[in-house]
Amino acid sequence: MTLIATANSNRQTWSGLIEAYRPYLPVTETTPVITLLEGNTPLIPIPTIAQQVGRQVRVLVKYDGLNPTGSFKDRGMTMAISKAKEAGAQAVICASTGNTSAAAAAYARRARMRAFVLIPDGYVALGKLAQALMYGAEVLAIKGNFDQALTIVREMAESYPVTLVNSVNPYRLEGQKTAAFELVDVLGDAPDWLCIPVGNAGNITAYWMGFCQYHSVGLCERLPRLMGFQAAGAAPLITGQPVAHPETLATAIRIGNPANWQRAIAVQSASLGEFNAVTDAEILAAYKLLASEEGIFCEPASAASVAGMLKVKEQIPTGATVVCVLTGNGLKDPDTAIQHGQHSFKQGIEPEIAAVAKAMGF
Ligand code: F0G
Repeated sequence: MTLIATANSNRQTWSGLIEAYRPYLPVTETTPVITLLEGNTPLIPIPTIAQQVGRQVRVLVKYDGLNPTGSFKDRGMTMAISKAKEAGAQAVICASTGNTSAAAAAYARRARMRAFVLIPDGYVALGKLAQALMYGAEVLAIKGNFDQALTIVREMAESYPVTLVNSVNPYRLEGQKTAAFELVDVLGDAPDWLCIPVGNAGNITAYWMGFCQYHSVGLCERLPRLMGFQAAGAAPLITGQPVAHPETLATAIRIGNPANWQRAIAVQSASLGEFNAVTDAEILAAYKLLASEEGIFCEPASAASVAGMLKVKEQIPTGATVVCVLTGNGLKDPDTAIQHGQHSFKQGIEPEIAAVAKAMGF
């Protein structure tokens, strides 16, 4: 009993990322903090995949799928919704490929605000849609893609009493930059490389902001190379042209005209980084590898970071530390998992030991 009491009293409590990083964020004592205790997500080594790289390269994943609504969007949303509440907003709006809508809905409802979400009809993974509906968002599925939805909500926020919470809202990136802080806090310095999936290019921008801020106050010595990966069918940053009809099974990053395009280019050049495309087949291979070899289930878009890292592995310096960002939880997209999962699934077995043993191959 005594031992348990001691262990509990020694346990560090996590109060969410605004409290953890308050001095680095644009909040004051009067800002109402709307939090679900997001952040503080694990940084997990993936040694089996690292062996494919070899040369003593250390590879870890920042598993942001373990945030309260299952994606990194919670980091941005705690800030965006807290600031919207502070400004007296009563409703928020976003366009989304799914995760932003889930996070916006959860945080807005917690702040007693209405949440309107525009999604591309038929292209949002099932778990994400379920979340937005359950959290009480007003879901509007449009007969168009994410880029069209974003154009509409940007204009609506100018003419109607709704606050835009897409990553063009500066508070979103302020919240998301805390992921870079967490990496440095755990590793003691920035990694050599950060591999990250890129859609609307908010997250890559936010990571760079975070590393630069820590660097400017002397909390890290290094600045990483930021390696951004887009799906080959939705790769405007690689082709240099907007993609009118983006296509990829990684629906989270099915984006043809990123809102943060210019910032992403600036990050690439400042960090000496690169953008590269990964095919859906490469994304699926990494998605399966993470689950079956490392026990980590992320959503397809997230696996683009690992697929990309493996694609350009020859460029990784010997002995480097590489972090791949896993932006969303695999449970978000059960359809893709069941359709492509590398599983052995035998159905219709009689409920008898002999039948089960036979099915097991004994
Ligand atoms: N990974 C996941 C799981 C995402 O949901 C997104 C973006 C990204 C990566 C790309 O991040 O846009 O900052 O470059 N999802 C947005 C949404 C577009 O609506 O949920 P980005």
